[in-house]
Amino acid sequence: MTYEFLWFEGLPFPSPGYSIEGIKEACTKFVIKDEDTVLVAYPKSGTHWLVEILCLIHSKGDTKWTQSVPIWKCSPWLETRLGCKLLNESERPRLLTSHLPFHLFPKSFFTSKAKVLYLMRNPKDVLVSSYYFWTTSDLTKKPESLEQYFKCFIQGNVPYGSWYEHIRGWMSMRHRENILLLSYEELQKDPRSTIEKICQFLGKKLNPEELDSVLKNSSFHVMKQNKMSNLETMPESLKSLHISIARKGICGDWKNHFTVAQAESFNKVYQEKMAGFPKDLFSWEYCPRDSGSSMDADKCCPVVG
Ligand code: A3P
Repeated sequence: MTYEFLWFEGLPFPSPGYSIEGIKEACTKFVIKDEDTVLVAYPKSGTHWLVEILCLIHSKGDTKWTQSVPIWKCSPWLETRLGCKLLNESERPRLLTSHLPFHLFPKSFFTSKAKVLYLMRNPKDVLVSSYYFWTTSDLTKKPESLEQYFKCFIQGNVPYGSWYEHIRGWMSMRHRENILLLSYEELQKDPRSTIEKICQFLGKKLNPEELDSVLKNSSFHVMKQNKMSNLETMPESLKSLHISIARKGICGDWKNHFTVAQAESFNKVYQEKMAGFPKDLFSWEYCPRDSGSSMDADKCCPVVG
């Protein structure tokens, strides 16, 4: 069985685990506290990876927490019914996760000192990753084909709406001291330095062994084997929905899926929608071979990290 979308403020959400009242409550009534650490990302940007890293930093590389508590409990999803409940019951300081676009995020954040980590990923890889995610899970009605999903993604007619709006909205906060911008690509390229940057932002000091443990235990292969982080331990009501977060875990998989025409059309839309933003804000641009539309395998962005 698959489910229709839930619609809130013109945006489609998956329905299992969500309710209109719950999303509304999260957006309008939830109180973000100064001590909270918030992770925000558009879906399929590597959210679970960063959650795991944050949990491991929090426990100084000790894996007891990440190996005994499911990831959705360690850093509950604010806009889900269960996540909101867990957060309201939890003792501070809390770790919390959200995919909400900026304009729906709880207003209490703007007067708090809570630290926000905003994670981005090359939108072409987000598109491919999300296509597989919605196709293999039973969370929403499935895309008919990659071609059809490609159009829906560009129009923002996908769960949580437009990628471009999400990025543009959150980017408007980029000058605030309590926001750290991160990318999936920099985590792949140089995970150690990126984790050190996160520690510095959070005011956490880890010794080299603790840092090694964070790196090792947040790796794709370790997370894929860990029942607490690979979503094998889902709440009872979501168990039959075939939700899996670990697929390939690489940069540049879009090159195995987009046609030349799709890559060109995507680049054109990207330039239009992201006009006015400095290019160096987005670190997938750092990958010199990820800017063209060629599908030549030699020009693929190498897998790093
Ligand atoms: P792919 O589908 O491209 O493989 P999210 O957590 O936001 O749903 O993102 C899921 C994406 O992050 C998937 O991408 C998944 O494989 C990737 N991912 C999950 N854990 C990872 C890890 N430890 N290292 C690298 N990528 C990871």
